[in-house]
Amino acid sequence: MLVIRPAAPQDVPAVFAIERAVFGDPPYPDFFFRQAVDMWPEQLLLAETDGRVVGYILSCPAGQAGEAWIMSLGVLDSARGQGTGKRLLIAALDVLKKRGCKTALLTAHPDNPAVGLYQRHGFQVDHLDPAYFGAGEPRLLMRCQLS
Ligand SMILES: CC(C)(COP(=O)(O)OP(=O)(O)OC[C@H]1O[C@@H](n2cnc3c(N)ncnc32)[C@H](O)[C@@H]1OP(=O)(O)O)[C@@H](O)C(=O)NCCC(=O)NCCS
Repeated sequence: MLVIRPAAPQDVPAVFAIERAVFGDPPYPDFFFRQAVDMWPEQLLLAETDGRVVGYILSCPAGQAGEAWIMSLGVLDSARGQGTGKRLLIAALDVLKKRGCKTALLTAHPDNPAVGLYQRHGFQVDHLDPAYFGAGEPRLLMRCQLS
């Protein structure tokens, strides 16, 4: 059974293992996730199947009041295609709504199939930055009104 729950400090190694497996080099460092647990409680959410962490989503407040960023969403390759990413995204948006956020933002590579997932959950393309992470690293900036 799939359970979505907030991460605790002891979950950091499992989250970091997913980070490395899904996003490769360079991943967010493990100490970043440890601090995320403290900085943004409830916003580092895990997907757990039969006691095994298979995915995570991280959101955090943005600089502008009422705005938040989805910083990362990853599901282990072996667990994909079963609705886990969708459940994580829905749970993250629910948390943001409960916290009074009005707008969620994220970036995604224009070729990433996750763009369709985001669009089906209310995100729209704001603009394309052709070099968001430098030359040859375009990203769509996507925005979702939460209500
Ligand atoms: C994106 C990701 C989190 C999706 O996780 P998942 O558990 O496989 O997603 P789901 O099973 O919930 O599928 C969600 C939707 O996306 C679609 N989808 C997922 N992967 C897809 C793919 N490779 N190609 C086409 N559609 C895909 C599914 O069909 C599903 O559509 P639906 O909403 O109409 O049912 C996962 O593929 C992943 O970790 N990718 C690598 C990391 C990444 O790119 N993260 C996003 C960064 S912006």
